[in-house]
This record gives sequence, C-alpha cells and structure tokens, in this order.
Amino acid sequence: MQRNILITGGAGFIGSHVVRRFVTKYPQYRIINLDVLTYAGNLENLRDVEHASNYTFVKADICDADAVAAAMKEHAIDGIIHLAAESHVDRSISDPMAFVKTNVIGTVTLLNVARESWKGAMEGKRFYHVSTDEVYGSLHDDSLFLETTAYDPQSPYSASKASSDHFVRPMAIPTSCPSC
Ligand SMILES: NC(=O)c1ccc[n+]([C@@H]2O[C@H](COP(=O)([O-])OP(=O)(O)OC[C@H]3O[C@@H](n4cnc5c(N)ncnc54)[C@H](O)[C@@H]3O)[C@@H](O)[C@H]2O)c1
Repeated sequence: MQRNILITGGAGFIGSHVVRRFVTKYPQYRIINLDVLTYAGNLENLRDVEHASNYTFVKADICDADAVAAAMKEHAIDGIIHLAAESHVDRSISDPMAFVKTNVIGTVTLLNVARESWKGAMEGKRFYHVSTDEVYGSLHDDSLFLETTAYDPQSPYSASKASSDHFVRPMAIPTSCPSC
C-alpha cells in the first residue's frame, strides 16, 4: 500500500532513526522529513538515506501553517508522525517560551493544518503524536506507571509536552465522524 508520510523533527536524535527505519523498511512509502534544523537537528544523521528515491527533506517550521500546508498539499500527505519538539529539560528552565512555541503552538498548528487538509476525506488518515514519559512525573514508591496514571509534569518541558497531549486528544477526529 502506498503512503505519503510526513515525519516532523526527522533530523533530530530519535526522528532520524524513525526516518531511516521507514525509508529503508518501507520502500513503497514516500517519507517527507519536515524539520526547521534548530541546534538539535543535523542532516548528517541521515547522510546514508538522503539520496533514497522515497525520501524528501523539507526545511520548515511546524509553527508556520502556510509552509506545513504547502508541504501537505505538494506531497499528498496521508499520515503524520510528529516528533519535532524542543526537548531538553535544562533549556526549558532557562527559556520556557521556546517550548510553548514549538511544543504547544507548533503541535496545534500541525493539527489544524492536518484537519483542514484532510477535511471530508478522513478515511485512512493518521496523526501519531510522540509524547514523553516525563508528563507523568516521578514515581515515589515501587508502583508502576499505567496509562491511567494522572499527569504530573515537573518541568517546563514536560508541562509543554503534557499540554500538547491534551490538544491532540480532543482535536483528533474519529474516522467515523459523519461531518468530517
Ligand atoms: N530523547 C528522549 O529521550 C525522548 C524521550 C521521550 C520522548 N521524546 C520525544 O521524542 C521526540 C524527539 O525527541 P529527540 O530527542 O529526537 O529531540 P531532538 O531535540 O534531538 O530533535 C528535535 C528535532 O525537532 C526539530 N525541531 C525543533 N523545533 C522545530 C520546529 N519548530 N519546526 C520543525 N522542526 C523543529 C529540530 O531541528 C530537531 O531536528 C520529541 O517530541 C521528544 O519530546 C524524546
């Protein structure tokens, strides 16, 4: 089955492994890596796949709705794996606004653009949002984290990721929605 998948933050630490995995394991998929290349992004991470016929790099900011919409349209995107983020806890303490911008506003921008681009044709569309265990805070005894564990973010980073999670849940449109 052909799919056109937008991976955000694909030049980062985890994103580059996700991109490589998809490009090499699923040659029938077209992988579009959208990344603004902050200090954390490095295309050297992807030298081995940069010339693959099913791989395209787009330099853009997830907060730029027009740029994301243009990429969605040009590449007929039908799936998104969203990893782009400000991700370093120490930086979030010194510059929390950067985390609000990318992790909250960027995620909501991406959700809005996806919803608009896929309006009326939601069947088969997918939006995967990558969160972090840090939204649950720390365990103080021998218990386990469960999917029902209450959120308890302890840093501006985890607070921004928790916020983005809470936007993804209500904005994700079920494929059975009759008005979609
Ligand atoms: N690294 C971890 O241990 C870890 C653990 C749990 C969850 N996560 C989550 O996994 C995801 C990836 O983490 P990582 O460690 O690879 O992060 P990273 O900081 O290494 O990479 C982030 C990537 O996002 C890009 N980016 C940042 N702002 C952007 C923007 N506005 N528009 C487009 N691209 C932008 C950067 O250029 C970079 O390539 C993040 O969502 C993070 O919260 C990471």
